[in-house]
Amino acid sequence: MRTELLTMLRETNEYVSGQKICETLGVSRTAVWKAVNQLRKSGYEIEAVSNKGYRLISIPDILNLHELLSRRKTKWIGVDTLCYETIDSTNAQAKRLAEEGYDNGTLIVADCQNAGKGRRGRSWESPAGTTISMTLLLKPDINPNNASMITLVAALAVSKAITKLTGVPAGIKWPNDIVMNGKKVCGILTEMSAQFDYVNHIVVGIGINVSTESFPEEIRDIATSLRLETGKLISRAELIETVWEYFEEDYETYLQTQDLQNLVKDYNARLVNMHQRVKVLDPKEPFEGNARGITPKGELMVDTWESRKLVSSGEVSVRGIYGYV
Ligand code: BTN
Repeated sequence: MRTELLTMLRETNEYVSGQKICETLGVSRTAVWKAVNQLRKSGYEIEAVSNKGYRLISIPDILNLHELLSRRKTKWIGVDTLCYETIDSTNAQAKRLAEEGYDNGTLIVADCQNAGKGRRGRSWESPAGTTISMTLLLKPDINPNNASMITLVAALAVSKAITKLTGVPAGIKWPNDIVMNGKKVCGILTEMSAQFDYVNHIVVGIGINVSTESFPEEIRDIATSLRLETGKLISRAELIETVWEYFEEDYETYLQTQDLQNLVKDYNARLVNMHQRVKVLDPKEPFEGNARGITPKGELMVDTWESRKLVSSGEVSVRGIYGYV
């Protein structure tokens, strides 16, 4: 009921009469009044004027199921959405739910994680109220060898969503960090459970620093937030919805060919490493070269003094020669 009411108020952006709400939702005036008050308690500012009706004045930056579902425009992502105030890790939760039989497209969102996971066994900080932690559960019928490209599709979606909502370009540091002014605003951790020819499930975990005002000394040089880079306060729920709208479209494009052939151009246009000198931290044999974009398989093409090398994500990481990017 609160979800439907929010959807109505948001879509109209004007006064909606109590009668219209009652008729549309098939509920009593008292039920509407109760729902309005519950929303007000959660921080929504709703004006009530006799003979006119209700009008949504302001929306708090909160993450709850009503806020997320009342914004949902995706076809299949988030049909099942689970939202937590605090969780250990949305990726860990997504994996548990996958084992329980939750479907392709299930979305897990948390206001705060207390055991957030980063790539290469690192931890990931997701304090309450200022960050986005979310994970999408996928059960695609694809060759497990093609799964690592999904992480690049996710990076593309986040880059597009941030750029759309802030008006400031957000680039991609290969394969899947989102950067603004040379610092990271978002990390993506994609994990897979598979047999050698069959994918059981894939979880795509995305962490975005939205309104963080400062970072611990150790990461201040490499981490940033949308607020610090753009001066804008972006609604987390709106950003979540926008990310998955872009992802749904690009992921369907990826599924058609099981590679990135139709997304390479879009991805390379956002690649901050493009034509930059990079250091490839291959544990066997690190090398330097000039990055030339990705292949349809998502590998980074790096021209060294002697030849072109194709670098696969997952195996190695890449740094700019003067720092993180
Ligand atoms: C990185 O190291 O860059 C990847 C960070 C990924 C963090 C996100 S937050 C949501 C999801 N849940 C986790 O535990 N990790 C990912």
